[in-house]
Order: sequence, then C-alpha cells, then structure tokens
Amino acid sequence: MSTDSLISELEQAQSLVLALVEDADETACRSQYHPDLSPLGWHLGHCVFTDCLWLHEKIRGDNSVTEPIADLYIPPRTPKSERGGLLPAKDALLTWARELQAFNLHYLRNLRPEWKEHPLLQDDYIIHFLIQHNSQHYETMLMVLTQKALAEYQPNGGRHQPLLPKALNGERVDIAAGHYRVGGTRPTAYDNEVPPQKADLGPFAIGRHPVSNAEYLAFLEDGGYRRQELWEPDGWAWRQENGICRPDHWRQSDQGDWFAVGLRGSYDLTGSEPVSGISHFEARAFARWAGARLPHEYQWEAACRIGALEQTGRVWEWCDNTFHPYQGFAPFPYPEYSQPWFDGQHFSLRGGSLYTRPAVKRPSFRNFYEAGKRHIFAGLRLVF
Ligand code: AVJ
Ligand code: FE
Repeated sequence: MSTDSLISELEQAQSLVLALVEDADETACRSQYHPDLSPLGWHLGHCVFTDCLWLHEKIRGDNSVTEPIADLYIPPRTPKSERGGLLPAKDALLTWARELQAFNLHYLRNLRPEWKEHPLLQDDYIIHFLIQHNSQHYETMLMVLTQKALAEYQPNGGRHQPLLPKALNGERVDIAAGHYRVGGTRPTAYDNEVPPQKADLGPFAIGRHPVSNAEYLAFLEDGGYRRQELWEPDGWAWRQENGICRPDHWRQSDQGDWFAVGLRGSYDLTGSEPVSGISHFEARAFARWAGARLPHEYQWEAACRIGALEQTGRVWEWCDNTFHPYQGFAPFPYPEYSQPWFDGQHFSLRGGSLYTRPAVKRPSFRNFYEAGKRHIFAGLRLVF
C-alpha cells in the first residue's frame, strides 16, 4: 500500500478513537467500568501520546509533548484506578487530541528527507504500528462501552426471541499432517509473529465454525457450569470464586429466556452466531464436555491459511497453548509489547472479533490474555 493511503488509514483509526470520546459524557470519559479496563478518555490520551512518542520523541528527538504526560500515559507508571482522576476535562482532552492528531498527519505527509531515513520509517513500519495500536485500543474502548452498558442495564421485562439449545454441529475439516508455515512478516507483523516458524503438525480435524450460542446453551443446560469433572482444578476454583454460570453478557428474562446485553442495550442471541464473553476456563470446560480440545494456535493458523475455517473474525478464538516467543524472537519496537506476557499465564487467541479493525485481522496475528478474562469478545473453536 502507498504511504499516502497508509496515512489515510491512520487518520481513520485515529478518528474512530476520537469519536468514541466525543460521543461519551464527562463521567463516562473518566469512569472505570471494569477492573481491567482504563477509562475511555485515558485510551484516547494514550493513543495520541503513543503517536507522539514514536513520531517526535523517537524519530526526531523532541520530547516536549511527551515528557510532561509520560507518567499518566505509560501504563506501568499509573494504576488504572487512578487514571480517571488525572485526566483533563473532556473538552480540553478533545481539543488537545484533535490538534495533535492533525499535526501528526501533517508531519507524516510532509516528512523532511532526513527523517525519512530513520529506521522506524523504513517500509512505513511505524505507520503500520500506529494504525494497529490505535485499532487495538479502539477495540478495548468498545469493551469499556460494553461493560458500561452491562453495569447500567435495567431489566425492563421486555420479551426476547428465546435462544434454543442445539446439539454440536459435527462439521469438521480434516487437516493432513505436515510442515506448515506460521508467522508473519514486517512491516505489518508484530514482534511476536516473527520470524516465521515451521510447525510440524500431526493430522487433526477442526470445526469449520466456531462454537455457536445454541451449542453453548446445550452445554449450559447439560450442567456445564455445575459438573466439576468438566473443569481443570484452576478453572473450577475460578468458577466457584467468581460465581460464574453463563457468558459475561448473557442475561435471563423472567420467562427464563436467554438474551444478551451489548453496546446498544439488550438484543436477541442468534443461535448460529459464535458464542462470546467466555474465559479460557469456560472454553476448556466446553471442549471437555464436547469430547474435544482447543486448537493449538499453530493448528488454527495452518487451518486458516488453507481456507478451512469459516466465520473467522467474529469472536477471538481461545487456543490451547500459552503465549510464547517464536524461535528467534527479538523485542521490537519496544520490549513491553510482547515480552512481559510470555509469562505462562497468558493464552493465545486468534482470528479477531466483530470489533477488530481490518488492520489487525490476519492469519498470523496473536492476541493474548490471562485465562480468567471474559470481557474481551472471545469464544472458541474445537479440534478433534
Ligand atoms: C495485545 C490487546 C493484549 O491491549 O493490552 C495496546 C495491545 N499493547 N497497547 C493490550 C496493546 C499496547 C494489548 N493486547
Ligand atoms: Fe497501548
């Protein structure tokens, strides 16, 4: 893609992040709606800060914008619970963000020849990086808005088209044993996707579709959340401690019908849509109930690359394995993007959700969260 169109893509990603704050009120901008999620306004500030960090501090050695606000916007320096109280008023934040976003686009469109030579600008690397960074925070902001909607939802006695359980759809694709290539390439790939790897896979069968809402309801109604034998000890302890008995955003009407609450309030659950709002623990219990497993992320990627998977990019799909460095991993462009999360506590997710921007949707993209997280638009697919 040409540099000009990439800059336009960055402009679009920035506008989306900005618009979510424009549409929120002052309270919504600074409130924390989930212990894992920063306030909406902080995400905008952090995205603009990050654009400036790379474009001005790193590339041309000017830290006049970033230095004064680094403590607020570099995540480890301020706990999430304190971020809302430190943000400027919404109007001031927006004015500042609009000005810097426009300035940064102008700067990229009129780059001085000496800056064009900077290694971070080779193959437009840093533009790709910032498009993806803004896009990832955009999705996280939609998680914030979903948690806000859940917190504010008032049951209104409204009727819902009931979700009906359905036996497992047996549609599977057989994948032959072999050497498969996994991984991506710069300038789009993140450090954790490179260098490309050779995966030696035995034969397996993988679900053509992710597990659906109707299939998940069958698990739930079959005592999936009550039968300890379906859970690993850590998953069972997590279930007990948190009183988990349904996907994060599922609710049940007075008539006993299941429906969901999302960004725009309540809606009917469609039986054939992929289930989401579940943790790795729940995904694993479902797989055991189904007599199957979660895919290793290499199995997922190999199957995806040969066109075996349908309905990808609707929910993030939990994989069986923990997030780990590929052979030859080198942190880039900064250590904290991937390295701290190779801790054995984070599991890989593949595919992307309905809220994931195209810039982040590719067969090699690796997302990663801890096993108990369920606010992240994640579901699962089975392997046999
Ligand atoms: C890869 C989605 C887990 O949001 O914590 C954003 C992405 N890294 N800014 C996150 C990220 C730095 C990251 N996830
Ligand atoms: Fe970030």
